[in-house]
Parts: sequence; C-alpha cells; structure tokens
Amino acid sequence: MSDFTSNFWHLYVAGITLVSIIACLILLWFSGKAKAMTANDNTTGHVWDGDLREMNNPLPRWWVGLFVITIVFSLVYLAMYPGLGNLAGKFGWTSAGQYDAEVAKANAVVAPLYAKFLGMPPEDVSKDPQAMAMGERLFMNNCAQCHGSDARGSKGFPNLADGDWLYGGTPDIIKTTLVQGRNGNMPPMAAAVGSPDDVRNLAHYVLSLSGSPHDSLRASLGKSKFGACAACHGMDGKGNHALGAPNLTDDIWLHGWGENAIVNMINNGKVNQMPAQASKLTEGQIHVLASYVWGLSNKTATAAK
Ligand code: HEC
Ligand code: HEC
Repeated sequence: MSDFTSNFWHLYVAGITLVSIIACLILLWFSGKAKAMTANDNTTGHVWDGDLREMNNPLPRWWVGLFVITIVFSLVYLAMYPGLGNLAGKFGWTSAGQYDAEVAKANAVVAPLYAKFLGMPPEDVSKDPQAMAMGERLFMNNCAQCHGSDARGSKGFPNLADGDWLYGGTPDIIKTTLVQGRNGNMPPMAAAVGSPDDVRNLAHYVLSLSGSPHDSLRASLGKSKFGACAACHGMDGKGNHALGAPNLTDDIWLHGWGENAIVNMINNGKVNQMPAQASKLTEGQIHVLASYVWGLSNKTATAAK
C-alpha cells in the first residue's frame, strides 16, 4: 500500500530521512569535539552591556544524552512504524487498519442487539424504543446531511416523513433503496414536446393535474402533449414507483413548483442520486434504519409504543 507513484520517490524520501538523522548525530559529535576560539578566561570574547560575557562551556552531559536518545528513538520508531519512505514497519500498523479494527470491534459489541432486531419484522422494530433511538442516531450520522435532521428533505432531496414516495414506501422497498441506492433519471423532453410555447402549455397542464394555480386555456392546449410523459408518469400523471417517476397530481414538488420549474424539468430533465449504503452500513444497521424511516411516515404504527 504505497502512495508513491514510483519506487524512486520512496528511496528519495527514505534517503532524505536517514541522511537528516545521521547528520544530526554527526553535528552532535562534531560540536562536542570542535573547539571554538576562546580567550584565556574561557569566554568567547563577546561582551555586551559592559560586563555580560559569553562563556564557552560544553553542553551538559544530560543534554547530549537527551539528543542521543531522541536519535535512537527515531530510528527504532521508523523500524517499527511506517514513516521511512513506504516501508510498512515491523508492526504492520496502518491508520486505516486501526480504524477497521475499531469499527469491527464496535460492530461486534452491538451485533447481538442487531441480531435481535434482524429477527423481527420492520413493523415491530419500529415500535421498539431502543431500536428507534438507534435508528435516529444512524439517521443523524448517515442521512440527515441530505434529508434533513427531521427527514423532511429539501429541494431535490425527498421528504421521507410524508406518505409520498418516488419508489414506494413499504419496508422492503425502503430497504432496497438503502442497499442499492437509486438513480432518478428524467431525460430532457423538449424535443419530444415541440416548440417553447408547447412546453409552456404542457407545464400548465401538469400544474392543473394537482389543482395548482394555472392558465386553463394553456392547460387544455397542452393536454395532448402529455403523451410524451405518460410512459413514465402514467397517463393519469400519478407516477411510477418502478421508475421513480413522481406523482404529478399530488401538489408535492421535489424540484420546485410553478411554471418555470416545470418548464425547466421538461427542457433539461434531471439526474438525481441516492447513494448506495451497502458498503457503509451493516445488514443490521440497514434493517433498523429502514424500520425507522418506515415508522416516520406510519406514525399510527409507532404511536402504539
Ligand atoms: C448524498 C445525499 C443523500 C444521502 C447521504 C442519503 N440520501 Fe436518501 N436520497 C437522496 C436523493 C437525492 C434521493 C432521491 C433520489 C431520486 O430522486 O431518485 C434519495 C432518496 C431516498 C429514498 C427514496 C424516497 C422515495 O420517495 O422513494 C429513501 C427511502 C432514502 N433516500 C433514505 C435515505 C436514508 C435512510 C439515508 C441514510 C442512510 C439516505 N437516504 C442518505 C440523497 C441522499
Ligand atoms: C423516462 C422517464 C420520464 C419521462 C419520459 C418523463 N419524466 Fe418527468 N420525471 C421522471 C423522473 C424519474 C423524475 C424524478 C427525477 C428525480 O429523481 O429527481 C421526474 C420528475 C419530473 C418532475 C418533477 C416533479 C417534482 O416533484 O418536482 C416533473 C414536473 C416532470 N417530471 C414532468 C415531466 C413531464 C411534463 C414530462 C413529459 C414531457 C416528463 N416528466 C417525462 C421520469 C420521466
């Protein structure tokens, strides 16, 4: 495991390190031997402030001893731990290895707890106060930066606490979302719709689906263009969980509301990504998180606790 692009840099850095340490030793030895020019009274002859004289005494032995100990320590340290070029050191220690070991140890401590929850259906896990406390902490550490600490999301990041789902809100589907991640993808559709005016008319038709304020003349003109959207959003505009195509009839807007926002969606499309968690979280953690998220939008279930 080396960060150097070639062996040359390994030797170069290791060489500089060793030469510097040895140079310290030589300097120490040399300064012990060399005699500075002194006057008869063992001063250097420098005088300040009338009578302050600089003496020429050798370094105290304990002081020299400390230097030697430091040098020996550095050599022993470099033999045991990584530091000399890309040599791993005798102990084979790495910070990544220490981190992995600590994570594995912590996971092992809580494993029996997670094993208990893994054996329970998510509906029951979401009624367990201990599991929900763990779920909340996992959510704060891994999900809140995108979905918000109250899980209510923001523009582009879906609200997980309502009953509206891109991909579906059963515990199994939520689990699949967490394990695999999701790639929401709406292609730019302007070419399939027609002129900029057609796009605006269609946007008003989309607004009319949810009873949002719209221009009804434009909406009626735009209606026939919705065929281009139906493959994903459904003929009735109620969306498609298999594709992650949102329901356009519910007045919940992931990417903003109004003519401009919808025209923008039609013209430019959208790629939106939920990162996969399988490599970050254990099976047990994902089970508890999925139960926690499911519980957020099924308050009647959690209220029973
Ligand atoms: C880097 C930002 C980011 C992080 C971190 C993140 N998400 Fe997401 N999540 C998203 C985005 C963006 C989407 C919407 C994907 C789409 O539009 O297709 C999403 C979608 C989802 C969905 C699907 C919602 C639906 O309506 O079907 C669930 C469930 C979800 N996230 C849960 C979580 C959980 C639980 C975590 C923590 C382990 C998490 N997310 C972490 C960005 C993130
Ligand atoms: C290939 C499938 C596909 C087609 C065709 C498609 N969409 Fe979409 N659309 C999606 C997906 C997927 C998303 C969600 C993007 C995301 O994950 O954030 C979306 C999102 C949207 C949104 C944003 C909804 C919100 O809650 O903010 C609007 C508006 C929309 N589409 C309108 C249309 C219109 C109008 C058409 C027809 C011109 C159309 N779409 C065609 C797949 C499609």
